[in-house]
Amino acid sequence: SAVAYGLEAPFEIEYHDSIDSTNRRARELATDGRSDVAVLADEQTGGRGRLDRAWASPSGGVWLSLALRPGVPIAHAPAFTLAAAVAVTRAAREAGVDARIKWPNDVVVGDDERKLAGVLTEVEGEADRVDWVVVGIGSNVNVDPAALPDEADATSVQDAVGPVDRRAFTQRLLEEFDALRRDLDAVVPAWRADATTLGKRVRVETPGGTVEGEAVDVSFPGALVVDTGEERVTITAGDCEHLR
Ligand code: BTN
Repeated sequence: SAVAYGLEAPFEIEYHDSIDSTNRRARELATDGRSDVAVLADEQTGGRGRLDRAWASPSGGVWLSLALRPGVPIAHAPAFTLAAAVAVTRAAREAGVDARIKWPNDVVVGDDERKLAGVLTEVEGEADRVDWVVVGIGSNVNVDPAALPDEADATSVQDAVGPVDRRAFTQRLLEEFDALRRDLDAVVPAWRADATTLGKRVRVETPGGTVEGEAVDVSFPGALVVDTGEERVTITAGDCEHLR
């Protein structure tokens, strides 16, 4: 385990006060053959979110990307994304925030489901064996939501419970992620326990069209099972909206 920046983590830590994107840097490391490195930054100047959106990353957040070379089939890669969402949720709950996971990987708080954290996973390799996986985790920790462009939909740990020890938050996150990535079969059960999507009516925009119904389960490595009333549809990718 590496002791750096006060973190005793199961990953080597590369810390930046400011960087364009920790995912970009972690991809570079992974492509160079490095594994088990956590790239951590206080601020990102070019943070990226899903669907190529910009991800606001002011100083005070926990902007983190893990470079991994797990040697699993590409089809298992979504399990790392779910594991990251579970790890952030557990770190946030430890900090006193009632965080829950919205499928697939948004960490949200409160009845209005404001977003606390998101995960962006990138994968490279062959179908039967990934070359690398980069798991990028953006957590609004000691951030004022007024500093975020999507203020109305966003929240932060600071907003919910006041500023916290970012080092302790990050340490917990890394430990939880490490335990789950070593036991991928434990990821889906852990995800179910922290989810807010299951049991809700959902509308999911998928590449194959819109699916509406009750979210009844998540199956390995992270697909959402929706009961439309006529059939059960298994959705591997899409944007999910909770209808109640
Ligand atoms: C989402 O759209 O919900 C995913 C957001 C992921 C943001 C994190 S912050 C650390 C890492 N570096 C990036 O540029 N993006 C991810």
